[in-house]
Amino acid sequence: MATCRLRMSTTKDAAVQANPLGDELRGGRTAKPCALVIFGATGDLTKRKLVPSLMGLAKDGLLPSGFAVVGFARRDWTDDNFRQELAEGVTQFGRSDTTAAFEAMAEAFTFHQSDFGDAAGYASLKQKLDQIDRQHGTAGNRLFYLATPPSAYSSILQHLAAAGLSKDNDGKFARIIVEKPFGRDLDSAVALNEQLRAGFHERQVFRIDHYLGKETVQNILALRFANGIFEPLWNEKFVDHVQITVAESIGVGSRGGYFEESGIIRDMIQNHLMQVLTLVAMEPPATISADGVRDEKVKVLKAIRSFQPADVDRETVRAQYTRGSFGGEDVKGYREEQGVPANSTTETYAAVRLQVENWRWSNTPFYLRAGKRMPRRVTEVAIHFKQPPHLLFQGSRPLQSNVLLLRIQPDEGVALRFGAKVPGPDVRIRDVRMDFRYGTAFGGETADAYERLLLDAMLGDGTLFARRDEVEEAWRIVDSIVGGWKQSKQRPQEYVAGTWGPEQADHLLTAGREWRKP
Ligand code: BG6
Repeated sequence: MATCRLRMSTTKDAAVQANPLGDELRGGRTAKPCALVIFGATGDLTKRKLVPSLMGLAKDGLLPSGFAVVGFARRDWTDDNFRQELAEGVTQFGRSDTTAAFEAMAEAFTFHQSDFGDAAGYASLKQKLDQIDRQHGTAGNRLFYLATPPSAYSSILQHLAAAGLSKDNDGKFARIIVEKPFGRDLDSAVALNEQLRAGFHERQVFRIDHYLGKETVQNILALRFANGIFEPLWNEKFVDHVQITVAESIGVGSRGGYFEESGIIRDMIQNHLMQVLTLVAMEPPATISADGVRDEKVKVLKAIRSFQPADVDRETVRAQYTRGSFGGEDVKGYREEQGVPANSTTETYAAVRLQVENWRWSNTPFYLRAGKRMPRRVTEVAIHFKQPPHLLFQGSRPLQSNVLLLRIQPDEGVALRFGAKVPGPDVRIRDVRMDFRYGTAFGGETADAYERLLLDAMLGDGTLFARRDEVEEAWRIVDSIVGGWKQSKQRPQEYVAGTWGPEQADHLLTAGREWRKP
């Protein structure tokens, strides 16, 4: 690996000089100085997401004045190797003009080589952090990031606690960010929560779900609770059903080994889709505080009953993509992907009908679907409203209901579909759309979800992180689906790569409802 040739200056210089409007942009949210220790720092996440996002924060003047990063991993890298990798990552994956921010503070990034299970590595980490406090003004505050495979979490947690690094006192904070997957079922999630609890208080724990860092996901709360017009309609009297779709055009690629063990239900539905569902369905919180919001989110999950095994085939559909063509090119079927056994029954698509059993939603089904190798990448929430009680313009109006569409990504925005009179002497009604687009309304470059989440963890704000009970409730529901699939005699359905999933998913929607074709 080439030696890193970067201009060095102190973190303080970079953060403070980066943006003269820093205070205004911060909106009063200033993080305390801290050192970020990334476990598994040689992995893709650090290079593609974490460090480019940190540099996005640096560019906007949002990093604290004293800041440093320690990459903790097994590989025999030097500081220079590490910095060189990160520099490449920032150039390739960072926002525009973030390379300079990295160059200006490269010195604040150091590498710490150790096995995750070696106590000596944590003792030396502690010494190193003390030294970093002196050099970079990080004031004894530590933020740990578990970016390793989950099998290493337990050992890291034990060693952090044993080395006295998990203590949050004397005005100095110790916090821990845990990457997904958070367990692979309810039992393992509970066990991981217990391990976390042995060293850390819940307020120190930040379970990441990067969907919560997306502006458009946060906008669900703004749309609902900063406006007067939506909330009165946001219930079973007016909403016929809700569709939440996360479609991806990519296949599993080189992640076949990981995906085979998780399937789309664990990879996407247990976390990202359930989180979006809670924001759509929750009651207004008393305050926009971490517990205010999460108390309401968890109530939504609690109102969803676990499935009985016998009901699962009726309430869900799972499927695998087969060979197909994409953008004019032939693509492999799931069972031909690297790391996937030829007889795999792991689902790459799942659709689920959920019922939130409370006063607000008792008669409104929520349909969730997620899939790989769909025709295009799109994440959206579609609120389908009921038809008017009496159709005056019968015959002329297409049988489309009003839909409020929250476009999470790409083409971020909100659209409302409604009927309008076609100009002319006849009374003919046609569907039209009112459309708000983030790009047009706000312009500028959208920050990656990790920017917001890293900043919030530095600030100690857990609002956009999953609390222990949320994660466990989501697993309870998912476990009941997976349990039903295990007992079912049906194999997963198939869909050709590049299509919108299996035909059987259409039958999940009853009463004349249809999946939206995004
Ligand atoms: C990750 C999943 O959590 O989310 C991936 O593990 C998936 O399989 C990714 O591709 C999707 O994220 P995004 O932000 O691209 O929608």
